[in-house]
Amino acid sequence: MSGAPERRTRGRTSPSRLRALDAYLLHCERPLLERQDGPWGEAAFLDVGFGEHPWTTLESARRFRALNPSLRVIGVEADPGRASAAASHEEERTHFRQGGFGWAREAGQPVRLIRAMNILRQYRAEEAGAAHEELGQALLPGGLLVEGSTDGPGGITVAYLLRRGAEGLAREALLFHTDFHQGFAPRLFRDWLPVDWRRRMVPGSALHAFFAAWTAAWAEARAQGADSPADSFHEGARRLSQAWPGVSAEPWLWENGYLRWQPPTEVPRPQGL
Ligand SMILES: C[S@@+](CC[C@H](N)C(=O)[O-])C[C@H]1O[C@@H](n2cnc3c(N)ncnc32)[C@H](O)[C@@H]1O
Repeated sequence: MSGAPERRTRGRTSPSRLRALDAYLLHCERPLLERQDGPWGEAAFLDVGFGEHPWTTLESARRFRALNPSLRVIGVEADPGRASAAASHEEERTHFRQGGFGWAREAGQPVRLIRAMNILRQYRAEEAGAAHEELGQALLPGGLLVEGSTDGPGGITVAYLLRRGAEGLAREALLFHTDFHQGFAPRLFRDWLPVDWRRRMVPGSALHAFFAAWTAAWAEARAQGADSPADSFHEGARRLSQAWPGVSAEPWLWENGYLRWQPPTEVPRPQGL
């Protein structure tokens, strides 16, 4: 890629690690996954940096094809050994290729959805913006880039949702998810923030203010008797949605451990980036 050098890493992944994102996309992005008109018929789901085994790509292919049986799925890996090892899993509409963030644009492949999970953790915060731009170039208008981090088992997720619009790639939302295996407090997400925010969530920053409001809403919920992790998450999210612009008020999200913050303009950038 031109924006930032590719990173050689161990490529650690695990089956089911990205199940929560798949469930979110199936529920909230159904039209994006199903669309077939014009170029959308050939528009792929692209899984960038699938790691040492293509488990998560194959799992998502199976899940998304429940909505769109002819969906083209392409796993892209910078590491040539991982890309060629994955080739044994290819089938008619599932492919694995060696490449970087610009692969789809270079290949002329239209894309509806790009996932780049647990990749930018190995990059510098200053490289995130260029990586998003390069990844997003192959998206059709309305297409979505999901970029973020999870813990090893996939029980904690934080991801940017970036949408291609008429003006370019918009920082549409931040998505948080937990399955409560570590209990719950909003600070649980701090270690899994996108790389550009991880060391910049300092007092005075927009994300610090958001987390302070979330923590206050969650503490109020507990004080009012929402004791279990799931109840305090749900009730805290409900209270936050009434106090903080852009917090989605969809009960399905809260009932399933998701909170989406979609600010009226865009997700703020950390200062200096
Ligand atoms: C930690 S693994 C993540 C695997 C999987 N996405 C997951 O979430 O479990 C990161 C992978 O990203 C690959 N990678 C890093 N930079 C890349 C780039 N610019 N383009 C494609 N793959 C990249 C690495 O080779 C590595 O295999």
